[in-house]
Amino acid sequence: MKEIDRRSFLGLSTAGVASLLLAACGAQAQQEPAASEASTTDNETTDNESADTVEAEATNSAAKNGSAAVVWFSWSGNTAGVAERIVSATGAQAFEVVPEVAYPEVYEDCTDVALQEQRDGTMPAYQGDVDGWDGVSVVYLGYPIWWMDLPQIIKSFIADHDWAGKTVVPFSTYFSSGWSDTPEKIADTCAGATVAEGLSLAQGDLPDAYTQIDGWLEGLAL
Ligand SMILES: Cc1cc2nc3c(=O)[nH]c(=O)nc-3n(C[C@H](O)[C@H](O)[C@H](O)COP(=O)(O)O)c2cc1C
Repeated sequence: MKEIDRRSFLGLSTAGVASLLLAACGAQAQQEPAASEASTTDNETTDNESADTVEAEATNSAAKNGSAAVVWFSWSGNTAGVAERIVSATGAQAFEVVPEVAYPEVYEDCTDVALQEQRDGTMPAYQGDVDGWDGVSVVYLGYPIWWMDLPQIIKSFIADHDWAGKTVVPFSTYFSSGWSDTPEKIADTCAGATVAEGLSLAQGDLPDAYTQIDGWLEGLAL
């Protein structure tokens, strides 16, 4: 990544820290990133929400969506929140992509590791796998935008699986970069899959934006 991009993102990440702090307090992010706001303040507010907090509750839709899986990676819980609601609404199998080696809990350290992984093309290992992958026809694939791209660990998951004939439904959360062309990257790398209309939510709009999830799922009619 060019140095100017890195400087921009350091500003973004600092504002992201503030947003994460606000999110942790249940408040919405109020500020836009600015490169001049660079700070070295560590934070340990991320909660690295884990898969065991997610339970499928919708048994009726489980029958309808028995061959669906919700697969996600989430470092600080925003994407996990979306995943949890998709699992509840669809009854799909839940699979959190948990790294074998955890990412740093301090935001700036995590951004450094993520950037280095991206530059090196590292494909991080993760724990476990989706049950009965061959029988899964719809994969809701969730991730935070990291350095205007898919996190490398999502690229690992994609590379490890056969996508032929499956429908992939992307969902993501971000600070300010939007999709960053990640659905196109998914279409390019999930060979043989159809990529359905995804849902991308700004972290500053959470948790209110979770209300968009049901309507989006209904529109997909999968
Ligand atoms: C390593 C790292 C890189 C990030 N890169 C971006 C980025 O390029 N653009 C952006 O809008 N947000 C970026 N963010 C912010 C996250 O996308 C945002 O906080 C997201 O909601 C986090 O989701 P999570 O809680 O599921 O991890 C980054 C955050 C981290 C930790």
